[in-house]
Amino acid sequence: MTQEESTTPSAFDLIGGEQVIRALADRFYDLMDMEPAYKELRAVHGSTLDDARDKLFWFLCGWMGGPQHYIERFGHPRLRARHMPFKIGILERDQWLACMDQAMDEVKVNADIRARLRESFFQTADWMRNQ
Ligand code: HEM
Repeated sequence: MTQEESTTPSAFDLIGGEQVIRALADRFYDLMDMEPAYKELRAVHGSTLDDARDKLFWFLCGWMGGPQHYIERFGHPRLRARHMPFKIGILERDQWLACMDQAMDEVKVNADIRARLRESFFQTADWMRNQ
């Protein structure tokens, strides 16, 4: 995120660090797998979500201003390019955002940080659209 955040608490600190982000990534993919409301989003993914779960956890730690686990393993995220093989339209974007919001609710992410993340997730997910 920004330079400023080296002196002010990062989203990573505010959310509660790695333990909460791990729980969030796990809940996100459990819900995607389980809930009929996310069925088109689930269909874009492969048969197993195990790799995606770890990668989202590693990515989110760095994206929120914490340890750069994803970059250490895979280099620059290049998220838009990495998502090009998957069909991402409005429907998939909105299901991703709703699934993440439900996961944030269930993991009990504090309301202020949840509102801030919801906005950032929207920007990122919308930029990923390729249809
Ligand atoms: C907008 C709708 C989105 C769709 C349909 C989507 C779909 C996918 C799919 C199918 C994969 C591959 C999973 C696998 O390797 O098994 C993936 C990977 C990933 N997604 Fe998304 N995604 C979306 C949005 C996002 C957003 C908003 C973020 C981050 C805030 C994100 C972060 C990631 C990361 C970090 C990976 C792993 C990339 C890699 O190293 O291969 N995705 N996504």
